[in-house]
Amino acid sequence: MYNLKFLIAAVSCLGQALAAPTPTTNSINRSFNKRASLEDSAFGYASLNGGTTGGAGGATTTVSSYAEFTAAVEGDDPKIVIVSGPIEKTADQVDVGSNTSIIGKDATAVLTGFGLRLKRVENVIIRNLGISKVLADSGDAIGAEYSNNIWIDHVDVSSDRDHDKDYYDGLLDFKRGSDYITVSNTFIHDHWKASLVGHSNSNEDEDKGHLHVTYANNYWFNINSRGPSVRFGTAHIYNNYFLSVSDGINTRIGAQVLVEGNTWVDGKKALYSTDEGYAVERNNDFGGAKNEAEEGTLTSVDYDYDLIEASAVEGAVVGTAGQTLVF
Ligand SMILES: *[C@@H]1O[C@H](CO)[C@@H](O)[C@H](O)[C@H]1NC(C)=O
Ligand SMILES: *[C@@H]1O[C@H](CO)[C@@H](O)[C@H](O)[C@H]1NC(C)=O
Repeated sequence: MYNLKFLIAAVSCLGQALAAPTPTTNSINRSFNKRASLEDSAFGYASLNGGTTGGAGGATTTVSSYAEFTAAVEGDDPKIVIVSGPIEKTADQVDVGSNTSIIGKDATAVLTGFGLRLKRVENVIIRNLGISKVLADSGDAIGAEYSNNIWIDHVDVSSDRDHDKDYYDGLLDFKRGSDYITVSNTFIHDHWKASLVGHSNSNEDEDKGHLHVTYANNYWFNINSRGPSVRFGTAHIYNNYFLSVSDGINTRIGAQVLVEGNTWVDGKKALYSTDEGYAVERNNDFGGAKNEAEEGTLTSVDYDYDLIEASAVEGAVVGTAGQTLVF
């Protein structure tokens, strides 16, 4: 009798667990765990201009070598490339085609020694992938030029600070009229020059009116500068956690940035202008770092987003940003 009751209770418990709805996580909803779906939607600027769906609807290939990887990401047909395990190679950036999703299977999916170039492409998603120690000669960890609709989510990009500042180049650099980009839930760490939006003061013709970038829920750690640096563009930077980032958000030469609900710990210049770059800031915790940007006009953006208090950002972002997704 006792055993039967126990069995019934156990079976009913199991039944409830099985009947529970399959969780799908939208990365903005942090009250939930890190379960993710390939169908999760891009948010922020990557959700505008027709949206960013990557390889949705295309074939899925799993790769685990450099040769398999480079072959799988080329071409513009919709395709989902799952990276399984680490791939190491000292090589130039690999060109990624349009309509591509590159997804790290788990936290061991790390590209070391080579990065990704998005040149004249559209509609690319990169999630749950690590990219590490790309030498300056080989380019940036992720670099985009003349490209639009890019969603970088739950990525881990880094190098080290054991060399001079030009030994490695950028981690996330967007230039030459690239547009509609979101960097979310990403761990950006151990690097000199982290993220550059707009590469030159003399590139106004290509860049003005473009370079819309959202940075949301990212963890920036041990960075010297460009956290990020923005020329000409429009950036919405919210709910980021900056720990030991010396020179943070640099708004330059006509850029307009909206900076809200971020937290800095152990920073030097959290937010500053160069050559007439502008910012609107609200509800940030600068943690004693300098906020000396010129007042801007970007007070709202054309998409919906969830914003949390600066005081809740550390808890929401540290430990969640980076390659923490489970597919
Ligand atoms: C977050 O996701 C969970 C699980 O799907 C859901 O129950 C909860 O209502 C969501 N919260 C918000 C604020 O959307
Ligand atoms: C991306 O895919 C869509 C739908 O298949 C297609 O219309 C578009 O031309 C593709 N983009 C490129 C650059 O080929």
